[in-house]
Amino acid sequence: MDSKDFTISLSYRSEYVSDRASVIERETGKMEMWNVLSDLWEPKDNPDGIVNLGMAQNWLLRDIVLQRIRYSFDPPSSALTYTEGTTGSKRLKDAMSKFINHHFFPSKRVLPEHVSVTNGTTSALEHISWALADPGEYFLVGQPYYMNFVANLTWRFGARLLTVSFEKDDDRFSEVAVKKYQQALDKAKAEGKKVAGILLCHPHNPLGRCYPRKVLIGMMKLAQAHRVHIIADEVYALSTWENTVDKECAPANFHSLLSIDPNGIIDGHRVHVVWGMSKDFAAKGLRVGALISQYNSHLHNSLIETGYFTMISSFSDHIAVNLLEDEEWLQWYIPEHQRRLSQNYAKTARWAQNNGINYVKGANAGLFMFADLGTKYREIHCISPTLNVTQWVQRALKAKKVFLSSGDDFGYEKPGWFRIVFCVPDYCLFEGLGRIIEALNEGWKKNNV
Ligand SMILES: Cc1ncc(COP(=O)(O)O)c(C=O)c1O
Repeated sequence: MDSKDFTISLSYRSEYVSDRASVIERETGKMEMWNVLSDLWEPKDNPDGIVNLGMAQNWLLRDIVLQRIRYSFDPPSSALTYTEGTTGSKRLKDAMSKFINHHFFPSKRVLPEHVSVTNGTTSALEHISWALADPGEYFLVGQPYYMNFVANLTWRFGARLLTVSFEKDDDRFSEVAVKKYQQALDKAKAEGKKVAGILLCHPHNPLGRCYPRKVLIGMMKLAQAHRVHIIADEVYALSTWENTVDKECAPANFHSLLSIDPNGIIDGHRVHVVWGMSKDFAAKGLRVGALISQYNSHLHNSLIETGYFTMISSFSDHIAVNLLEDEEWLQWYIPEHQRRLSQNYAKTARWAQNNGINYVKGANAGLFMFADLGTKYREIHCISPTLNVTQWVQRALKAKKVFLSSGDDFGYEKPGWFRIVFCVPDYCLFEGLGRIIEALNEGWKKNNV
């Protein structure tokens, strides 16, 4: 499959909003997730609702995190005004840098001035796009990619995305990936496309795996050779866990990009990491993200004023400080979080095995499993090989009111793959998994939606 070039084309015209807003208005209409969220299944309160195994959210630790937040929620009166700057209070930057030093094992100590805090990782990614690429310049991302990279990087500031595609049996976490990125960079250069950076999702959404250290080093060398930035989205950094099911696999453990000393590999100005509390702290609604860049003070300086647009609420700042400073609680919380993720992966992997569903083996990170529902669908129902099986599965899932994101959404080359989020309470997980099997068995019939 060819790589894709995401460029916003101003082909729509509107009298009522700008042309570019009009393009996005149409794109947004395709996003099912927001409708799903307003009609969530609950056995008693909304029995006709939709089971959501499509959004990468972590419910497993919600009550615990909420309890911990309540325990010390005593905001100072200053929480009603701005903090010291637009990119997080001094205390939060201090707490976050200590937290990162403790859990990401950086090769050089992270200092508060290496951190710019934003209202969510999404905003940190958009700052990356704005600050590191001029309009028309590209970021490279491997397929499949976290679907919102397209919006985060391309929608508002004119940067573009070039996807790197793989062959059927390529290991996307091996040296092969470095080679593929190299070919993509060479091709872009030959076509006169200017690349600003390589963006890695590490740990990977939706594949649930981490890049081995040596592959990260290969990517860094490649970025240096082409004088481009390298950015790792490490929003799942601590959502890594033991895979107790796929014993035959030996997945790479997580090593932060920050843990690799850039000396002799890459100019440190080009190395950046984004992280946030949405996944590792089960707190999407808190809107806490961060951009960590240890050598590029220009990048942080460029956010002093533009940070106004993405300022974290002073209340969230206060809450984040309380969580990150509580080392004793963290010592219990993080392993507990990882233990629960491991358990729920195991439940989901056994369900897949018992039902003869193929999935990406050897995952050890993230909140989801990537599974091939299309092959199973084809086994049960005779549909022509020329028809897009993803659409058939999608329709069958919709008829059974269970929501999953498809591999197509992530730009995956193979049809029929879906991401199943397993970090929901058991009653919801088993309801959703049961509905998936029903959807596959019954298939989609024209009159059942
Ligand atoms: C890889 C990745 N990056 C960023 C985000 C967005 O995180 P936030 O809620 O902090 O904006 C997500 C959420 O699904 C994600 O999977």
